[in-house]
Amino acid sequence: MNSKQAVLITGSSTGFGRLFTETLARKGHTVFATMRDPGGRNAKNAAEVRTLAEKDSLPIHVLEMDVTDDASVGRAVDAAIAKVGRIDVAINNAGYYLSGLGEAVTTEQAQRLMDTNFIGSVRVNRAVLPYMRRQGSGVLMHISSGAGRVVLPCAGFYCASKFALEALAEAYSYELAAQGIESVIVEPGQYETPVFGNTVMAADQARTDTYGAAKEIPAKVNGALSSTAGNAQEVADAVLRIIETPAGEKQLRYFVSPQDFGLNEINDLAKQVQTRVLAAFGLVADTKFLKGKAVGSV
Ligand SMILES: NC(=O)c1ccc[n+]([C@@H]2O[C@H](COP(=O)([O-])OP(=O)(O)OC[C@H]3O[C@@H](n4cnc5c(N)ncnc54)[C@H](OP(=O)(O)O)[C@@H]3O)[C@@H](O)[C@H]2O)c1
Repeated sequence: MNSKQAVLITGSSTGFGRLFTETLARKGHTVFATMRDPGGRNAKNAAEVRTLAEKDSLPIHVLEMDVTDDASVGRAVDAAIAKVGRIDVAINNAGYYLSGLGEAVTTEQAQRLMDTNFIGSVRVNRAVLPYMRRQGSGVLMHISSGAGRVVLPCAGFYCASKFALEALAEAYSYELAAQGIESVIVEPGQYETPVFGNTVMAADQARTDTYGAAKEIPAKVNGALSSTAGNAQEVADAVLRIIETPAGEKQLRYFVSPQDFGLNEINDLAKQVQTRVLAAFGLVADTKFLKGKAVGSV
């Protein structure tokens, strides 16, 4: 594979997605920076990305993509293929945080969150995989979270969306290894991005009001997350290192965090148990991925 890769990123308007776009493009990778509504709600963000690309001659193409819309995902992937003929890396980054007591989250809010944070990756992966399988190579990257492995109160639905993403990404890693396609999971801790300002709060205030002191938990959690947030460029640098790690040598999980609260211990133990589970089901030969390293930090 050419060392310069074609990378499609979801949710590139702000935050991590925007930083990944610039960081990867500055290293010569061709980036398809996808975002919702670049002609409307994200017009300013799209213009800034295009201006940067022009000013510094960076290989960045802004494309429209709403990860909750099959047709929109398909159009963006088709446009990227029409432009360069391949997609080497798909970074599933689009997502948001939903905060509040579980009982106060409406079913509509829960469905919308899962549709973005989880099914969004399903749509993107289904759209890019036929091309990656034809190429015999590719990387599906999933921006999960520390909250994809541990649980905070009043973040239950967000955690559920990231736990779901982790499960699917791990299953893909076993299923696709034999075809030269890697599925990797990045688990950021708390980092300074617009994510905190974009947080959606549980809508059922009447239920929240019946919880007494527990209704203060969301503010406590959110305050602790934002006040300890690290520099988001650390995550972009980690993503660059991961995609530049040769095929077959990538880990399944990468925990990247300003605080070490022991997530790698969970990941190490999970790897050991998974190995035993796959062996018990006679699946080790089918999942050659397990011969390589599966967890660790970058
Ligand atoms: N920052 C952290 O501490 C942290 C920690 C762990 C994991 N994460 C994860 O990192 C990812 C990026 O978040 P961030 O921190 O960079 O926050 P952010 O700046 O709010 O970025 C979220 C991005 O997702 C996009 N998005 C939301 N719904 C979308 C949809 N339906 N279709 C396409 N794009 C959509 C947003 O686009 P719009 O501009 O159109 O809304 C935005 O570009 C998320 O998955 C988040 O869960 C963040």
